Amino acid sequence: MTGFDKDNMNNDIDHVLVSEEQLRERIAEMGAMLSEEYKDKNPILVCILRGAVHFFSDLSRHMTCRAQLDFMSISSYGDELKTSGIVRIAKDMDTSITGRHVLIIEDIMDSGHTLKHLKKVLMAREPASLKICCLLDKPSRRECDIAPDYTGFVIPNEFVLGYGLDCENYYRNLPYVGVLKPELYK
Ligand code: IMP
Ligand code: MG
Repeated sequence: MTGFDKDNMNNDIDHVLVSEEQLRERIAEMGAMLSEEYKDKNPILVCILRGAVHFFSDLSRHMTCRAQLDFMSISSYGDELKTSGIVRIAKDMDTSITGRHVLIIEDIMDSGHTLKHLKKVLMAREPASLKICCLLDKPSRRECDIAPDYTGFVIPNEFVLGYGLDCENYYRNLPYVGVLKPELYK
């Protein structure tokens, strides 16, 4: 990346797509809904690193049901803007999910390849249930037959950053979801 503002990353953002206030409101709403859904189910909430870090942290603290938290790190081969569909588990979770209710918490569903693969891997471990909760969904980009069970926001086909989402591992610490200035892409 060249042409970025080295002192303030907010200046690299063309426009805000989901504001801090919208995130706060929607995540509180989702947390309340999931608390109902998972009450008495003793779920395992699985954070998909690194993109889901803030969403996971905020959402899980809005869930009042008894739950265990775990973490996985997955990398998809391909470049920043397009996944290849080949996925590698870089860090597996530590908890056994056999017979348990599992909720995967992810930043975004784009082509769907990453989550489709992950779902297949985790289903082989025979959980009692396995659902996917994504902060963002870009259905117009889908290349597989999969959809999140729970979605925060449906967004248009734009490359977004912030609130965990990155470009070359930067911008994850922006408190909102935004779109990069077009001149910074290449
Ligand atoms: P998929 O396999 O194409 O669904 O892509 C999933 C992964 O690609 C996500 O977990 C993100 O890490 C990344 N990704 C997809 N779209 C975006 C975006 O707009 N901004 C940042 N990362 C993205
Ligand atoms: Mg990711």
